[in-house]
Amino acid sequence: MKNKISDSVFNVGILNPNIRIADVVIKTNNGTSYNSYIVKGSDKTALIETAHKDFFQNYLQNIEEVISIDEIDYIVMNHNEPDHSGSISKLIELNPNLTIVTSPAGAIYLKNIINKPELKIKVVKDGDCLSLGNKNLQFISAPFLHWPDSMFTWLVEDKVLFSCDFLGCHYCEPYTMDINITNKEAYLASLQVYYSAIFSPFKKYVLNGLSKISNLELSFVCPSHGPVLTKDGILFEIIEQYKAWSDLQKSSTPSIPIFYCSAYGNTELIAKAISKGIKNQISNVRIPLYNIVEHNTADLANELNSSDAFLIGSPTINKNSVTPIWNLLSTIDAINNAKKPTATFGSFGWSGEATEQISSYMSSMKLAVFEEKFKVCFVPTEQDLKNATSFGEKFAQSLNI
Ligand SMILES: Cc1cc2nc3c(=O)[nH]c(=O)nc-3n(C[C@H](O)[C@H](O)[C@H](O)COP(=O)(O)O)c2cc1C
Ligand SMILES: [Fe+2]
Ligand SMILES: [Fe+2]
Repeated sequence: MKNKISDSVFNVGILNPNIRIADVVIKTNNGTSYNSYIVKGSDKTALIETAHKDFFQNYLQNIEEVISIDEIDYIVMNHNEPDHSGSISKLIELNPNLTIVTSPAGAIYLKNIINKPELKIKVVKDGDCLSLGNKNLQFISAPFLHWPDSMFTWLVEDKVLFSCDFLGCHYCEPYTMDINITNKEAYLASLQVYYSAIFSPFKKYVLNGLSKISNLELSFVCPSHGPVLTKDGILFEIIEQYKAWSDLQKSSTPSIPIFYCSAYGNTELIAKAISKGIKNQISNVRIPLYNIVEHNTADLANELNSSDAFLIGSPTINKNSVTPIWNLLSTIDAINNAKKPTATFGSFGWSGEATEQISSYMSSMKLAVFEEKFKVCFVPTEQDLKNATSFGEKFAQSLNI
């Protein structure tokens, strides 16, 4: 059978090759899959996660190729986001005896996601086990990978880890296993987009999660999106990649990137003058200047989120900043950027709202926004540029670098 993983594990999930955006913001250039697994024990059967509700009929067919719905005892929900919990209601209508197994936080969320008081829930904690007869499931709590409810499930006898979103990828090819990936370059590109969007705010938790599973003798990691990772395939390569992306060590050279947009080059001139000021104050510093429209947002987001401080420059267009700036601001990882120093500047013509708007947005994200905003009316004069340089010096002096 195409989707058999071990003698007791089957992937009954759904492929969604055509999706191009998941969760409003995550680009899915290579589609995705909603994996869901049947684990058959000698006494009991568990379903690990369900699939997105839009694909229920096909999903049901996949399950029934392996087992009748009546014979399933448990649905293990490692995480309850609707891409995984979406088919629970319909499955329960077909088999009201199903018991949902989830973490303490998962039990709370599920009540408000499914909205059925009669839901049968079994709460499991870190280290708890569930026997299926000759097969045993062990639960490993994995908070913030990527919701507070997240956990992993370890199928002891078959050495299979069900990791839900963790180590997954929005990537779709017709076969389940990593050894069948035909376009590894595309898979790795999707993996990076997926990691950045879902896990980069939780690097510390990623490292904790990896350390918790490091003593397991993994044969397979079955995530809920993308190919199953195998020990003879790319499993350990992907684990190393997650580790590398989650490395919390700071580079010895501080970085203070300056991001800007500029229609006629006015804000750009200010950006250059400010960077001169920062360099006057701090000798060993990287100050890359980015004209936002010339760069890929994911690269800029990476630079911003790993910076020691940063500045944003924007003209005012129609009483507003401009879309590329708001796009970049939407990539700020609010958790790890709390209290990060930042400042705004820009050229304007008559009303000049942009710097205030950006500052107030960043304050609401709990960044430490420099009180002074540096604004110039239309084209900066020599004096304006000198003032911009001193603004850069003042900002640099305020930093603890
Ligand atoms: C379509 C358009 C709309 C504008 N709207 C405003 C505005 O609402 N308020 C304002 O202060 N300036 C406005 N401006 C003027 C620009 O902010 C000004 O030209 C500025 O110097 C542009 O800086 P830049 O060369 O860095 O883009 C507008 C300019 C354009 C082209
Ligand atoms: Fe999720
Ligand atoms: Fe997911």
